Amino acid sequence: MLFDGSPLVPSAVYLNTDGRVLVGRDAERHARMDPSRFEPNPKRRIDDGQVLLGGAELAVAGIFGQVLGHVGAEARRQLGGPPTDLRLTHPARWGERRRSVLVEAARLAGLPAPRLIPEPVGAASYFTAMLGTAVPVGRSLAVYDLGGGTFDATVVRRTRAGFETLSEEGLVDVGGLDFDHAIVEFLGRSYQSSHAGQWARLVAPADPGDRRQRRLLYEDVRGAKEMLSRTTSADIHLPALEVDAHLTREELERLVRGPLERTVGCLRQAIASARLTPPDLVGIFLVGGSSRMPLAAHLLHSELGVAPTTLEQPETAHSPAEAARTRYTRPPPPPPSPA
Ligand SMILES: Nc1ncnc2c1ncn2[C@@H]1O[C@H](COP(=O)(O)OP(=O)(O)OP(=O)(O)O)[C@@H](O)[C@H]1O
Ligand SMILES: [Mg+2]
Repeated sequence: MLFDGSPLVPSAVYLNTDGRVLVGRDAERHARMDPSRFEPNPKRRIDDGQVLLGGAELAVAGIFGQVLGHVGAEARRQLGGPPTDLRLTHPARWGERRRSVLVEAARLAGLPAPRLIPEPVGAASYFTAMLGTAVPVGRSLAVYDLGGGTFDATVVRRTRAGFETLSEEGLVDVGGLDFDHAIVEFLGRSYQSSHAGQWARLVAPADPGDRRQRRLLYEDVRGAKEMLSRTTSADIHLPALEVDAHLTREELERLVRGPLERTVGCLRQAIASARLTPPDLVGIFLVGGSSRMPLAAHLLHSELGVAPTTLEQPETAHSPAEAARTRYTRPPPPPPSPA
């Protein structure tokens, strides 16, 4: 399924003034009107019980339910009927209480009771189905998941029934949002003396106008960061200062090298906890949007001696349902050509 032409729908929500909850790109667009009605990362609020949006308290399960309801409605519209099977993936370390929020959200959205799958287990089946990698029972692989909010390293082993988790490690302070903050701080070092007043309001907004500017800044910073995975330099417009700043990949890599080295150390630890060494693994699979940063794969390769395996769309790489579909729709191999 595509949502406005994309296989991903952001889980952002916006409580509209008419009481409706907008989801995904519509929510992101409305965030400009009143950022206090906007929650960009509901997953980060999983432990909060309630979330305050524009002065109203909404239950976290209700917010998740709105996101799932949006996906369910699109499924009905595009596929002609209600979903009959629901699989939801969750961070490997989520316990019973957090998982129960997902179950409640599915119920509120009028969807079937979900089958809950830990993300690295989903990733393992996705990668092996996509790549046609045969993983013999008893062999293991590692999943390196660098997303927006956190980093997770997991080692899973093939069993007769699927995959089981052998070890997991994580860093809660390394993710794409942290890289965005690092870039803003870096820009501040250049502009906070020459544009003191404007810069101070940008990073500590005093009114809705300032908050809008701050959102624009972070959107532009994120865009530039993502572009630097493909190019060697990018421009960032600084609203209010009316300045176009310049950032090179080298500068970005100096900012993120330390945190990325910690992710590699964390994965090394997970492999050791599983009583394995890197050459024992079938592969190291990269998951999560921030794993597109070329320095991540480079450090993994140089420090662990294993070239990691990547996919075009590392955000969807923990969905096992997608893998199942891929397995059925993959075209048959071409007949062998005469030599
Ligand atoms: N080309 C790219 N280069 C660098 N970062 C990227 C690129 N594409 C996406 N990202 C970053 O990936 C992050 C989103 O990744 P993803 O969707 O996997 O996160 P998430 O699953 O929502 O977060 P988490 O798993 O931490 O809760 C964002 O910070 C985004 O800026
Ligand atoms: Mg993720």
